[in-house]
Amino acid sequence: MAHPDRFLLAGVMGWPVMHSRSPTLHNHWFEKHGLAGTYVPLAVPPERLAQALRALPALCFSGCNLTIPHKEAAVPIIDEVDRTAREIGAVSCVIVRPDGSLLGVNNDGFGFIHSILDDAPGWRADAGPVVVIGAGGASRAVLWSLADRGAQEIRLVNRTLERAKALERKFGPPIKAVAWNDRHAALSDAALLVNATSQGMVGEPPLDLALEGLPRAALVADIVYVPRDTPLLAEARRRGNGTVGGLGMLLHQARPAWQAWFGIDAEVTPELRALIESTL
Ligand code: ATR
Repeated sequence: MAHPDRFLLAGVMGWPVMHSRSPTLHNHWFEKHGLAGTYVPLAVPPERLAQALRALPALCFSGCNLTIPHKEAAVPIIDEVDRTAREIGAVSCVIVRPDGSLLGVNNDGFGFIHSILDDAPGWRADAGPVVVIGAGGASRAVLWSLADRGAQEIRLVNRTLERAKALERKFGPPIKAVAWNDRHAALSDAALLVNATSQGMVGEPPLDLALEGLPRAALVADIVYVPRDTPLLAEARRRGNGTVGGLGMLLHQARPAWQAWFGIDAEVTPELRALIESTL
C-alpha cells in the first residue's frame, strides 16, 4: 500500500453535485489499488467556494475536482493556476501542495484527446481540418487541446457567432469562427467533427447538423455522454464514420488527477467504463 499511514481524501465540488459520476469512478480506483481513502461529492454553493477550497489543506484533502459552476470562478481564488488552466480560463482539478498552497490545473483537454486516442489510436490532430460546434465552457478545453496537439485549422461554428469570434481572438490561429448558417459547408474536407454543445443530450433536441457533406473518413466525436449514443453519433456510424462518445473524456480527465494527488497511474479499463455506463 502506497500510503499506509494516511486515509486519502479527494472529492468534487459542484452546485448541484449529486449527479456527478466522479465518486463512482474514483472510488473504483481506491478499491482497485487497495488504498484506504474515499472520494466524496461536495455540495458547495458559489458564495462558499473560496472558503471550501481554503479548507482542503486543513482537512488533509489531496485535492478536488471542480464542476459547474465553479471551474471559472476558482481561477482568482487558487494560489497558482498553471498555463493550461489559465489559457482555458477554467480549473478542473485542484492539487493541495505539501506547503498547503493550492495549484489549479485543467485536465479536460487531456481527457478529450485521450478519449479519441482510446478509440482511434493512430489519430493525429494535424490530419486535416477540424470542425468544432459550440463555443461554451466545454468547447474551450476542446479547442485548447486540439491546438496544443497541432491542429492546423479549426473551424469553430456557433449559433451565436460573436462567442466564436471572441474565442478566435482569444486563441488566435488555428481557430476560425464560422457562422451557424455555414455549418454544413464547413464539413467538406473535415477530418474531425466535434459536438461541444449540449445538443443531443437527454432532454435536448438533436444537434441540427446534416452530415451529407462530411467525408466518410472523418471521425465524429461528441462530448455529450447521456445518452451514450447521441443522434449525431448514431447517424455518423450509420454512414460509416468512426465515432468517439463523450464518456471517455470524463474517464480520461481523471487520470492526471490521480497522478498529481496520489502518484499513481490509474487506468481506464473496460471494467471501469462498464461500471460508469451502468449508472447512466
Ligand atoms: P458548456 O459550458 O457546457 O459548454 P454553455 O457555456 O452554456 O455550456 O455552452 C453551450 C453551447 O451549446 C453554446 O455553444 C451554445 O450556443 P450559444 O453560444 O449560441 O448559446 C450551444 N447551444 C445551446 N443550445 C443550442 C441550440 N439550440 N442550437 C445550437 N447551439 C446551441
